[in-house]
Amino acid sequence: MNTGLLHTHLLLGGFLLLALVMNKVRAWRLGVLGASLAIVVTGAFNFMWRMKGAPAGWHALIGIKVLLALHVITMCVLIARGTAGAEKEARWRKGALISCALVVVIGLYYSNFAR
Ligand code: HEM
Repeated sequence: MNTGLLHTHLLLGGFLLLALVMNKVRAWRLGVLGASLAIVVTGAFNFMWRMKGAPAGWHALIGIKVLLALHVITMCVLIARGTAGAEKEARWRKGALISCALVVVIGLYYSNFAR
């Protein structure tokens, strides 16, 4: 298991969550876009390493986590682009925040409690 990579992934995820909570996605757009790219790469490596000896339900829930994470990243990119109206952007941000919270809970559960 590669804990360094897992913790890099955790920091990147924390940064995205912070940008969403503080409503700074557009202000920090370079960081947000870089973190989004890096989180997909580190996530793919985590997937390869952590699938070995995975506990029951891991594939199903991690699959759902990845889909929710892609929702978060898509919303961050759209918000960073800044072409939506304020009302639509607020809705996107709320949806992304809910997905991001779920993604963090599932990730932390499987990396720290399930095995
Ligand atoms: C919004 C994007 C994402 C967030 C906020 C996020 C968050 C997290 C967090 C907090 C952890 C726990 C890390 C630790 O305890 O050190 C984790 C683990 C993990 N994430 Fe992500 N993640 C995201 C995207 C992705 C993507 C795109 C993938 C796959 C391509 C992925 C795959 C994984 C895997 C496989 C684990 C390890 C699960 C285990 O230990 O069994 N994540 N994630």
